[in-house]
Amino acid sequence: MDVKFQNVSLAYDNVNNILNNISFTIPEGQLTCLLGPSGCGKSTTLNLISGLLSPTGGQIFFGDQNVTKKDALARKVGMVFQNYALYPHMTVLDNICFPMKMAKVKKADRLKRGRELAALVHVETELSKKPNELSGGQQQRVAIARALAKSPSILLLDEPLSNLDARLRVEMREEIRRIQKETGVTTVFVTHDQEEAIHIADQIMVLNEGKIQQFTTPNRLYDQPDNLFVAKFIGSPIINTIPFANVRDDFKAVVPTRVFSDGVTVAIRAESIVPATDPHDHLTLLPLSGTQVQSNRFGRETSLSLNYGGHTIIADGFREQDLGRNGKPLQFALRPQGVFVFNQSGERVWPETIATNVSPIKPTEVIHA
Ligand SMILES: Nc1ncnc2c1ncn2[C@@H]1O[C@H](COP(=O)(O)OP(=O)(O)OP(=O)(O)O)[C@@H](O)[C@H]1O
Ligand SMILES: [Mg+2]
Repeated sequence: MDVKFQNVSLAYDNVNNILNNISFTIPEGQLTCLLGPSGCGKSTTLNLISGLLSPTGGQIFFGDQNVTKKDALARKVGMVFQNYALYPHMTVLDNICFPMKMAKVKKADRLKRGRELAALVHVETELSKKPNELSGGQQQRVAIARALAKSPSILLLDEPLSNLDARLRVEMREEIRRIQKETGVTTVFVTHDQEEAIHIADQIMVLNEGKIQQFTTPNRLYDQPDNLFVAKFIGSPIINTIPFANVRDDFKAVVPTRVFSDGVTVAIRAESIVPATDPHDHLTLLPLSGTQVQSNRFGRETSLSLNYGGHTIIADGFREQDLGRNGKPLQFALRPQGVFVFNQSGERVWPETIATNVSPIKPTEVIHA
């Protein structure tokens, strides 16, 4: 079932809108991430989907059904939160079966289904344990199984991995991906971690200050950011930014005249900066020169700081043998991909269109307040 927001607003105090007139469609059967910095409105959006919050204005649809006035129970959503909130006195199997018990499913049926769900999330050997005998990752698996026990129309996950250590987070995000694929349940996953989002999501809605910045596939966010916020939020290391005024003469050769009146910031991905003499890279956009400030190699990664146009930028497209000497001039080149110019309000003004074979997922209509 898809989820549609039509001109939805929310003000906790009925005065100041946290979400202002937002519209989007979350596609059926896929995993969609809500991504953005702390306080941008991710949990608020999720709670509007679940029915725990009612919008101040606008309408919410599940498929063709208008659910705006329906409460969380009637919407049949499954939810998993950051803190697992399992019932401590119940066994794993009883925890998973509890929603079915509440729904008065026959005991034999719910135990059968409970065991199937435990197998799905790989806790079938822990059925008689209590939650405090499980690891954090196992607890979160049980919480997911319990959320799925109601056969929810939609599965909502609010930062479900943030209590886990880094390695377990990576393992569990793959597990959530697998479980979503196996069940096909429409899933909305909230995170503030861009790396988690790009690895798990079919599409990502980037939010900032209660506004949708861009809603598309992870690759398209990376390759074709609509604005400077998205360009800086997605990708590691963070995209290099330089005031356009500092480098406009260098860019004369490649950007059209209109960009000279609108362009305020140039943004360059670290991997788009390559050695000027790279024999493998015939497709360079333009040759430039700077000064090598510092270089570091760690494992298979080389990171190079360059002074270009009076600004330090980071390049990771160099091999060790292509590095120069610190403090000395260094010729480099830019690749055509991963170089963008943004205007005063942060919108991308160049390149205007970027060739791609990935079709975007468009919000039905995004009205920026
Ligand atoms: N119950 C509430 N009453 C008043 N204001 C609230 C309430 N809950 C959230 N807010 C405000 O709404 C804004 C969005 O909050 P929300 O919880 O949706 O952010 P978030 O993106 O989930 O952040 P985080 O990543 O920190 O969880 C914040 O400015 C927050 O202070
Ligand atoms: Mg939150």
